[in-house]
Amino acid sequence: MLKPFALASLLALAAAGVALAHGDGAPSPVDTKGLKELGEDPVAENPYRGDKLAISIGAGGYNQNCARCHGLDAKSGGMAPDLRELPSDAEGDSWFYARVAGGATKDGRVRMPPFLGILNQEAIWAIRTYVENQPKD
Ligand code: HEC
Repeated sequence: MLKPFALASLLALAAAGVALAHGDGAPSPVDTKGLKELGEDPVAENPYRGDKLAISIGAGGYNQNCARCHGLDAKSGGMAPDLRELPSDAEGDSWFYARVAGGATKDGRVRMPPFLGILNQEAIWAIRTYVENQPKD
């Protein structure tokens, strides 16, 4: 028979496990195992466009790191731009990469934190691939 406090801590552990599994919205690295490795220098265009593994890795990365501002399923709630609107071409890609890597500051206030160092290049392009594959409506 479990003592009440032991039971309570087991329940707390279980709850923490559930919260982690669903993502708590804190910036966190993304496991990009299985994707082609890209090194440090940013490539000019999304190397994973349409890639199924990139889409699923990107979905997790997006939900954990971006959804709290850019909206669930990449549907913006108005707090931050709708990322599905960026064109899927080299220009859209380099803008996306630069923004995610460097973040955005306005009038001295951080509107979006920089993600380079938390996310590697592979993770940034996987998230881009996920967003590109979300339906526009
Ligand atoms: C704390 C809130 C917040 C988080 C978290 C956040 N963003 Fe942003 N993001 C913003 C805001 C606000 C802007 C608009 C900044 C501006 O233009 O001044 C923005 C702008 C952008 C832009 C430029 C969009 C455009 O149309 O010009 C991209 C791309 C972007 N974010 C991608 C991401 C990705 C990918 C993630 C997750 C890895 C992320 N953001 C996480 C708030 C956030």
